[in-house]
Amino acid sequence: RRPEPFTFVIFGAAGDLAHRKLFPALYNLMVDNWLAGDCRIIGIARRAYEDTEFRREVGQAIEEHSRRKPDPQVLDRLLSSTYYLTADFNDANAYEALKTMLRDAESHFPQNFLFYLATPPSAYPVIADHLGNVGLAKPIDERHWVRIIVEKPFGHDLESAVALNQDLHQVFDESQIYRIDHYLGKETVQNILVFRFANGIFEPLWTRQYIDQVQITVAESLGVAGRGSYYDQAGALRDMVQNHMLQLVSLIAMEPPVAFEADAVRDEKVKVLRSIRPFSTRDVAEYTVRAQYEKGSVDGELVPGYLDEPDIASDSRTESYVALRLLIDNWRWAGVPFYLRTGKRLAKRATEIAIQFKTAPHRFFEQTDTPELAPNLLTLKIQPDEGISLRFGAKVPGPEIRVRTVNMEFLYGTSFAGTPPEAYERLLLDAMIGDSTLFTRKDEVEAAWSLVSSILHGWQRARGPIPTYESGSWGPEEADSLIQRDGFRWRRP
Ligand code: BG6
Repeated sequence: RRPEPFTFVIFGAAGDLAHRKLFPALYNLMVDNWLAGDCRIIGIARRAYEDTEFRREVGQAIEEHSRRKPDPQVLDRLLSSTYYLTADFNDANAYEALKTMLRDAESHFPQNFLFYLATPPSAYPVIADHLGNVGLAKPIDERHWVRIIVEKPFGHDLESAVALNQDLHQVFDESQIYRIDHYLGKETVQNILVFRFANGIFEPLWTRQYIDQVQITVAESLGVAGRGSYYDQAGALRDMVQNHMLQLVSLIAMEPPVAFEADAVRDEKVKVLRSIRPFSTRDVAEYTVRAQYEKGSVDGELVPGYLDEPDIASDSRTESYVALRLLIDNWRWAGVPFYLRTGKRLAKRATEIAIQFKTAPHRFFEQTDTPELAPNLLTLKIQPDEGISLRFGAKVPGPEIRVRTVNMEFLYGTSFAGTPPEAYERLLLDAMIGDSTLFTRKDEVEAAWSLVSSILHGWQRARGPIPTYESGSWGPEEADSLIQRDGFRWRRP
C-alpha cells in the first residue's frame, strides 16, 4: 500500500539522525516507488539555512549514508520537494511560521502531516504543546490525518515516561503517536513472528515443557562513539534493555495474536511485559550485573576505557554492560530463565537469540564433543550474518554409534537476493500509511519502564565501584557467575 500525499516535517533536521537515517530512508523509499504521489519534506532546526543550502546538505547525507548509490534523477526529485524553516523549538512564533507555510494556498503542501521529533527528548512536550496551540495537531478535516513520530529515549524512568505520555496525550490521541524502536524495523526481528506463527512445527515446542533456557545477546564492538554526554546519563539498561531487548523478549515469548494487526499484536506483547517478575532488591543483587569497559583491544585496535572517553564523568558509575536473568510468570514460561546481556566494546558485534531445548530424557549414545553442546539449540541470528541455525546430534560415520553436534543453517544472504531495506525505511513507510504494529504503545512503554525501574531502584541502593571488563572481551566475570549459578553458560556468538 502506498501512502496518500503528505507533508513530512522533521524537527531537528540538521542533526545526526536526520542525516544518517531519515533522509537516506526517504530517498530509498522514493527509489522503490513507495513515495509515488506528492510528498513534501520540511526540515526545521535552529541553524540558519537557505532551502538551497539545506538541499545540498541533504543530498550529501544521502550520498554518504544511503545503502544504494543515489540515482541523480530520483535524488533531484526528492531535493526539489525539500524545504527548510529556521526555528527555535521553544519559540511560539516558529509554529505560527510553520502553520503559515503549511497552509499557504499557493504552495500546495499536502494537508496530511507526519511530524518527526528527531530532537533532544526534553523538546518533545514543548513541540507537541506548540503544535497543539496553533492547531496543527488535529487534521484539517475528517479526510486528512496528522501523526507524530517520537524517537527514543522515551523517558528516563517510569515517572518521566508516564509524564511524557501524559504531555503527548494532552495534544495527540494515542492513535496519532508513533513511538520508534528501530529494532522492530529490522527484517530479522520481524521474522521472529513469521518463524513462530507461519510454521506449524516450532510453536508446539515453544513452551516450558521443552525449552530449558533462552539467551539474548546484543553485543557491540563500538564504544560510546562520540555520544558520551547522552550515554553517561543513560547507560546500557536504559539505552538497550528497556527498549530493544525487551522488545525481543516480547516477540519471543508472546502468545499468538488474534490477527496480525496493530492492537492485537501489541496486546500480546504487553501481556509478556506484565508477566515478567519485577526485581526485588535481592534479585537485583543476585540476578543483575552491570559493568564498565576498561581499555583493551577491539578488532586489533587499542581503545580507551569508558572513564577516559570524552564527555564521561571521571567518577561515573554508568554501566556500559548489563547482564540479567528474567523470569516470566505465566503458564507458557514459568521456570524458564531468560538471560539477557548487552554491552559496548565487546569482542564483536553480534545480536542473537539462542533457545536451548531440554536434553533427551535418556541418553544411551556416547557424545564425542562436550556435553554442553548436546542440547538442541535454535539460534536466531539478528545481525550480522542474519540467519537461523538449528543444532542437533548426528551419528559420526564409523562402526560405533557416537554422536556429534552439527548445525542446519538458513542464511538470509543465500536464500534471498539484494540488500534488505533499512529499519527506518520500513518504519517510516508504516507511519506514512498509518500502521502502528511495529511501534510501541503507551502501556507497552510503561510496562517496560516499570520493570527496568525495579532494577534501577536496586542499583541506586548499591554503593562502591561497579565491576569492569576489558575492551574486546565477552564482559565481566560476574556475568559468568550469574548464569553458572543456574547451571548454564553463556554462548559464544
Ligand atoms: C541505539 C542505541 O538505540 O541502538 C545505541 O542508542 C546502539 O547505543 C544502537 O549502538 C544499536 O543499534 P543497532 O541497529 O546497531 O543494533
